Amino acid sequence: MNQNQLKLLYSKDYIAEQVQRLGKEITRDHPGSELVMVCILKGSFLFFADLVRAIDATLVVDFMRVASYGSETQTSGIVEVRKDLEIAIAGRDVIIVEDIIDSGHTLRTLYNMLLLRNPRSLKICTLIDKRSRREVVVEADYAGITMDDGFIIGYGLDFDERYRNLADIFVVEPA
Ligand code: IMP
Ligand code: MG
Repeated sequence: MNQNQLKLLYSKDYIAEQVQRLGKEITRDHPGSELVMVCILKGSFLFFADLVRAIDATLVVDFMRVASYGSETQTSGIVEVRKDLEIAIAGRDVIIVEDIIDSGHTLRTLYNMLLLRNPRSLKICTLIDKRSRREVVVEADYAGITMDDGFIIGYGLDFDERYRNLADIFVVEPA
């Protein structure tokens, strides 16, 4: 990242406001049903931790790790499950929590994969929705922040596994 500059894009306060809003929306939409909240590792780990605390409902958490093949900044839709869910989701209300939907390939594949397990409902919650970059149809039921182009890091998001620990989100700009 030596040749690049980091520019603050979304402050931790702004992110926190969006996460609170998402928590309220999810709470409102799921009265009385126990939710299965699925964290897609690694990028979602901080978002997930904040989101579940913003939801006022009975829920259980589970974790999945997927790797999508492709270049550093572009995925392909060939998804390898590196760690699967431990909970059986058949007949349950499931929300997939993702960090970013970019081309949509990763989540499209993952969504179809989980749908085959016959959940009662299957929804998508993403922190960042890069709508204009979509190559396949994926609609987030809950979206924190919609943005156009740009590669971002921080608040769980990485560049080459680094910068996940930053509290704010920065856009990477060529120097
Ligand atoms: P998609 O398959 O193109 O939708 O890729 C989605 C995945 O790519 C996300 O879950 C992220 O892990 C990663 N990704 C996409 N854009 C960014 C970014 O701007 N910063 C960090 N990771 C990103
Ligand atoms: Mg990811």
